[in-house]
Amino acid sequence: MFEVLRDDFNQYKNLVNGEWRQSNQNPIQIYSPIHQEVIGCVSAMTREEVDQVVQASKEAFRLWKQTTIEERANLMYKVAKLLEDYKSDLTQLLIKEIAKDRKSADSEIERTIDFIKFTADTARNLAGETISGDSFPGYNKNKISIVKREPLGVVVAISPFNYPINLAASKLAPALMAGNTVILKPATQGSMCGLYLVRLFEQAGFPKGVIQSVTGKGSEIGDYITTHPGIDFVNFTGSTQVGEHISRITSMVPLLMELGGKDAAIVLKDADIEVAASNIVSGAYSYSGQRCTAVKRILVVPEVADLLVERILEKVRNLKTGNPLEQDDVTIIPLINQQAADFVMELVDDARIKGAKLLAGGGRKGNLIEPTLFDYVTTDMRLAWEEPFGPILPVIRVANMDEAIEIANQSVYGLQSAVFTEDIDDAFYIANRLEVGTVQINNKTERGPDHFPFLGVKASGIGTQGIRYSIEAMTRLKATVINLK
Ligand code: NAP
Ligand code: G3H
Repeated sequence: MFEVLRDDFNQYKNLVNGEWRQSNQNPIQIYSPIHQEVIGCVSAMTREEVDQVVQASKEAFRLWKQTTIEERANLMYKVAKLLEDYKSDLTQLLIKEIAKDRKSADSEIERTIDFIKFTADTARNLAGETISGDSFPGYNKNKISIVKREPLGVVVAISPFNYPINLAASKLAPALMAGNTVILKPATQGSMCGLYLVRLFEQAGFPKGVIQSVTGKGSEIGDYITTHPGIDFVNFTGSTQVGEHISRITSMVPLLMELGGKDAAIVLKDADIEVAASNIVSGAYSYSGQRCTAVKRILVVPEVADLLVERILEKVRNLKTGNPLEQDDVTIIPLINQQAADFVMELVDDARIKGAKLLAGGGRKGNLIEPTLFDYVTTDMRLAWEEPFGPILPVIRVANMDEAIEIANQSVYGLQSAVFTEDIDDAFYIANRLEVGTVQINNKTERGPDHFPFLGVKASGIGTQGIRYSIEAMTRLKATVINLK
């Protein structure tokens, strides 16, 4: 199934207009974050090659938009079946390419299978509307607007390294069900996974040009793709830095962007501390904190601060650290690369120098960072504000819930927050004041279930993901007005 993806030198090809083509450009080597060995190479595609991909997408769109929802949904179900059949290959690749632990890798594939089927079913059940003119002053029932949804055209889907299957599929499936054609530009680290996924779509029977791939470093080819005149929509998940750059250079093209976060867990005096501590630890440290929705700071009131910290520390000490190729039950795994680990260590050093109390971790071995917990973090420390994307958690002690809200909202980010309390009035008091896309009451911050709306405000994004919302984002309304005699 996957041999066609690479040549004799283990260089991966791209799906261009129905063929797996090799680019003549210098290959980019992909190193495993686990043992730093080369596990394959992907192509740095040229501008001319990108032009061919966009052209093929445009041509394929003419026919694809005419297909029925039922035809598209049947293909989607075939992709889901192929994902089930090849689950173990994909899990193994996720472990090798992005050092995902086995449990998270398995769950990424299973969730993607469910996502794809649910997207097909949702699209089958979406309906337009008719609006009668008589509800507006001066008009009568003879004027009726029939409103339906139409695809936008060519969607470029740019995915991050941390969910190379799921965050690619969660763009591809809604875009295709909506009748768009799609070009996937995966994160370079994660592009082997992305190409495996594209192969499954191809094998399911999507016609040539409907789904294609482009590999290459975002810093080299990204601007060219996102500003290409043939692109009708940019669906991006990644860092705020790159997202803001794309929003500055693009023009008159709609954007859907899910970016960075600094999600706070606010813990009040009547919280169930066991529930709060378990959620915070799994929310902060799973996949070594490399999740946009990871809990990235704790804001706790004085009455329960000591107890909460004690419970969290116990759990942090029990986290298993290691090599996900050798151990199935590790939570703390090597970070994606050395630079990521260097950045986390900068935050550790800054917090230490400025007087935060280090309770656990603080060390590194190559790109493996120990699970790290700091207490008494203050707002002059970088760790209070910056997104580490690593296994490091600051506890900020606050005077009361109003101070928690104030500090939570001072962040440039606005993805999610969690509030732990048994008092529903306090929960809503806080939830109504937080400047984020989602507030979780008595649960860790997280994206799923995937049919819920998922969005960030401020520097955390533009637009809303989530199965129905993603389909809606990648369609436009088209109104036809009937004027009866
Ligand atoms: P990243 O460095 O921003 O990369 C994301 C994607 O953008 C990659 O495919 C990358 O390609 C590409 N890219 C880089 N420069 C580009 C350019 N000029 N034009 C177009 N594309 C470009 O992010 P990451 O390191 O993969 O992921 C971590 C970040 O993503 C964190 O900040 C995290 O919070 C955020 N994230 C957010 C969500 C969410 O839903 N809110 C989900 C996951 C991750 P290359 O790999 O080739 O550079
Ligand atoms: O990394 C960003 C993802 O959107 C987070 O998804 O909350 O399911 O881990 P998750």
